[in-house]
Amino acid sequence: MTDLKQTIRQKAEHYFDYMVQVRRHLHKNPEVSFKEYDTTEYILHELKKMGIEIETPLETGCIGVIEGGKPGPAIALRADIDALAMEEEGEAKQEFISERSGAAHCCGHDAHTANLLGTAKILNDMKGDIAGKVVLVFQPAEEKLPGGGRMMRDSGILQKHGVEEIYGLHMNPNYKPGQIAVKPGAFMACTVEFEIEVIGKGGHAATPHLTIDPIVLSSQIITQFQSIISRSLDPTEPAIITIGKIQAGSAFNVIPAKAEMIGTVRAFSMETARFIKKRMEEIVKSTTEGAGGSYKFEFNEGYPAVVNDENCTRKLEKAARSILGDENVIKLERPMMAGEDFAFYQEEFPGSFFFLGSGSDEADSKWSWHHPRYNIDEQVFLTGSALLAALVFDR
Ligand code: NI
Repeated sequence: MTDLKQTIRQKAEHYFDYMVQVRRHLHKNPEVSFKEYDTTEYILHELKKMGIEIETPLETGCIGVIEGGKPGPAIALRADIDALAMEEEGEAKQEFISERSGAAHCCGHDAHTANLLGTAKILNDMKGDIAGKVVLVFQPAEEKLPGGGRMMRDSGILQKHGVEEIYGLHMNPNYKPGQIAVKPGAFMACTVEFEIEVIGKGGHAATPHLTIDPIVLSSQIITQFQSIISRSLDPTEPAIITIGKIQAGSAFNVIPAKAEMIGTVRAFSMETARFIKKRMEEIVKSTTEGAGGSYKFEFNEGYPAVVNDENCTRKLEKAARSILGDENVIKLERPMMAGEDFAFYQEEFPGSFFFLGSGSDEADSKWSWHHPRYNIDEQVFLTGSALLAALVFDR
C-alpha cells in the first residue's frame, strides 16, 4: 500500500467513531422521502463545521463542494438520505432505534450518509493534494417516485460544477465489511408500476351466463402475462412481470363487477419495458373485450436501469484493490432486478454504482433490506470511507 493509501486508511480509522455517531443519530431520527428536513439540517451543520462549501438546490438534501489544491476534473460522490415509511424492530439496535413512529432506516441510507460525511472529513484534511473538485451529493427521496436522483440531476447543480463522473454505493448484507461487489454494464433493473382494472358485469354466482366474470378474466390475463416473458421476449433478455396485489369480490355467491390488479415490471432497458407494456395491454384488451367486458390500464415508468460505465468501473475496481486487497473485490456475474434512482445520474454522467459489504455474524446485519430488523455491521465505515477517498485520488 502506498503512503497515500496508508494515510487514507489511518484517517478512516481516526473518523470511525464519528461515522458511528452520525449513523446512530440519523438512525434514531429517520425521515421519509421528501421530508428529510432535520436530516438535511444535520448534514449542513456537519459540513459547515468542516468548512465545506454547501448548496441546497432542492427543498431537502444538499451538496458539499471540496475544491482541491490542484487543477483537475470534478467528481461526484452520492449518498441517499431518506428512510422508509415503516416501523422497525431489533434488540441489536436498541440504543438507537427509531424514535419516530412510521419511519425507519431499514435500507441503510443512514449509513450511506454517515459514510459520505466521514469521507468528507478525510478528503477535507487532504484537499491540498486533490486534483480537481469533489461534489458530495446528499440526495433525498431515493425510495419514492419521481426519485430524488432525478430531481438532483435536473436541478443542474452537478452540471454547474462541471461534474464528469459520479459514484454511488449501497450497503449489502450478503457481503462482509471490507468487501465490495462491482460490475460493469447492467447492474440494476429499470422499474415500472402498473394498475389494471378488469371491468365485467356482476351478478349471481348461480347464473354466470348472465354475467361477465372479471375474476375468470383476470386469471386468464395473469397466466398469459407470463407467456410474454417466455414467448414474446428474446430469451437472452432478462425481465419480470409480477402482480403484487389482486382485489375482487366480497361474497361466496356473488360475481363481482370488476377486479383490480397492481404490479411491477423489471427489465434492463425502458425500451424492453415499453415492449412488455404493449404486449400486456394487447392481452388485457383482447381478453376483456373478447368476453364483452372492458378495462383500464395504467403503466407508470419509474427508475431507468443502472448501467455502469466500463471506464468508471475499472477505476473503482483499481481503487478498491489498492485499499481493500484483491481478494475483497467481488466481480458480479449477474445484475440484480431491484431498482435504484442512481440511474438518473447515469443517463447524463458516466458513473459506477456498487455494493459495500455490511453483513456479518454481528448485530442482525444479515437481514435483508426493508426488513424491520435490518441492520449493518458498522465496521463497514472503516473501508467504505477509505475507498471513496482513494477513488478521488486514484483518477
Ligand atoms: Ni436503499
